[in-house]
Amino acid sequence: MIFDTHAHYDDEAFDGDREEVLSSMRDNNVGCIVNVGASLKGVKESVALSSRYSFIYAAAGIHPDEAGSMSGEVLEFLHSQCMLEKTVAVGEIGLDYHWDVEPREDQQKWFIEQLHLAKEVDLPVNIHSREAARDTFDIMKREHAGSTGGVIHCFSGSLEMAREYVRMGYYIGIGGVVTFKNSRMLKQIVMDIPLEYLVTETDSPYLAPEPFRGERNDSRNLSYVLEEIARIKGLTVQRVEDIVYENAKNLYRL
Ligand code: NI
Repeated sequence: MIFDTHAHYDDEAFDGDREEVLSSMRDNNVGCIVNVGASLKGVKESVALSSRYSFIYAAAGIHPDEAGSMSGEVLEFLHSQCMLEKTVAVGEIGLDYHWDVEPREDQQKWFIEQLHLAKEVDLPVNIHSREAARDTFDIMKREHAGSTGGVIHCFSGSLEMAREYVRMGYYIGIGGVVTFKNSRMLKQIVMDIPLEYLVTETDSPYLAPEPFRGERNDSRNLSYVLEEIARIKGLTVQRVEDIVYENAKNLYRL
């Protein structure tokens, strides 16, 4: 079965047919989805989705682009949402220096606060890092983020960085990008990192794999990502599917 470790079904891209798309998952080999909060609204909607669908779980966290909306009060609210039975991670949290929507100082402050939250509530983290590889890694090292474990979502760093995260006890999130012809680095990482440390994710509605690149993405398309991982590793799709499903269960302690 397919495990989508990072999706955003609360996104307005699904406003027209959310129910229909999600109801079709079980018949399309999708066994489990973690809907990841990025904003305060996203956290609330992720939790709501997790209570409506048995196979959906929630992650509660505030994305670096939303650092300006953070406060002690919001942190308290996140804490309360993390205590819910179907909240399985703190995320997505991290640094985004590509868009630099919020001052880097603020991004870092709230990244650190949410790493502390993860320790307090004893949940793994879902990390967003874009063009901020060094700072993300240094902060995680300094804050002993290895103690909670987690996943580096939509991994886009170097092979050496991937190895470092694996040493820290983290999983590497692989999505649609691995199917793109020009993603040489990511294919190299998939080849080099043992399958036991890889998990699959869509980042739905974004990052649809080939042959649907540019279209709205959903968890059913992970079959193309599994096929590409299997091709790179020279394994059967079924074997890859089984192992990465177990990896994701371990990641989220399900
Ligand atoms: Ni995301």
